[in-house]
Amino acid sequence: DGGPLVLGIETSCDETGIGVVSGHRLLADAVASSVEEHARFGGVVPEVASRAHLEAMVPTLQRACETAGIALDDVDAIAVTSGPGLAGALLVGVAAAKALALGLDKPLYGVNHLAAHVAVDQLEHGALPDPCLAMLVSGGHSSLLRVDDVTASVTPLGATIDDAAGEAFDKVARLLGLPFPGGPHVDRAAASGSSVAIDFPRGLSSRRDLERHRFDFSFSGLKTAVARWVQAREESGEPVPVADVAASFQEAVCDVLTRKAVDAARSAGIEDLLIGGGVAANSRLRVLAEERAAVHGIRVRVPRPGLCTDNGAMVAALGSEMVARGRTPSSLDLPADSSLPV
Ligand code: KG4
Ligand code: ZN
Repeated sequence: DGGPLVLGIETSCDETGIGVVSGHRLLADAVASSVEEHARFGGVVPEVASRAHLEAMVPTLQRACETAGIALDDVDAIAVTSGPGLAGALLVGVAAAKALALGLDKPLYGVNHLAAHVAVDQLEHGALPDPCLAMLVSGGHSSLLRVDDVTASVTPLGATIDDAAGEAFDKVARLLGLPFPGGPHVDRAAASGSSVAIDFPRGLSSRRDLERHRFDFSFSGLKTAVARWVQAREESGEPVPVADVAASFQEAVCDVLTRKAVDAARSAGIEDLLIGGGVAANSRLRVLAEERAAVHGIRVRVPRPGLCTDNGAMVAALGSEMVARGRTPSSLDLPADSSLPV
């Protein structure tokens, strides 16, 4: 559509993602995941992830160019996640992006992973309204962000003070004997359970907690409550009602997430709520968010599940926006920063 042709590289966790976009149009989104290699450890092992990125980089790059029907030399810019994420994993992507930028003589744009999770929605629903409120929920992060300009002005309003939402799903899945990553399995199990069977705690929701942590999340207490409940059942010799535990746990997570997201949007006078990250694929989260937002005239945007999880298209989407808004490219000594703030 005449927009800049941008290649995006994502390696912050366990997905090697290479995306190609032209303006807001998605041309290719090639992803190689090392998730299977981490499954038996019950979580991502940084060393294993870095090695997998190195092996997947060139084949994934070739696959993306083929799908997009472009030669590398056609691209106008290279974008790469420079943080936050796993240090060794980020380094592989940043090194690859620098090599391409140098070899092809194209500008390099280091981008923030969280901002990229927001920018990706433009590929699906068009230009982002400024300002909008973004809730990012994944295995690595759970935050509420005020987005005034996705390339330059993203303000954190709150975040998890312990586990990320996806991490809580993964840990509870493990307690219930479900495979890693657990989110989709808990979601499926919950479908045949009752969300009011067990009254699990809602973290940081008491009046006192809300004074200090109005837009923050906490999921470790909830996880512990589930562990205790399951253990008590097992000790009593009764079977664990997996579907009811899954549904009641999922309700506790989605209840807090949607309540705080809508509260944050209302208090900032923002009418558009965007939900991204792997947990945005959760069926209950989507329904509850729509329901609660609608009461206050707030519109909800959720990219399709494939764009919510980590991928290269989101990095390309943010890179394309940086080119469009005339942002200064990064220099070739761009560092990988595992704790890069938004
Ligand atoms: O964004 P993502 O692919 O990677 C990270 O940056 O972490 O998110 C993965 C997380 C995992 O914790 C996974 O269990 C969770 O997203 N997840 C879900 C669902 N699908 C994926 N959680 C709840 N319900 C789902 N349907
Ligand atoms: Zn992510």
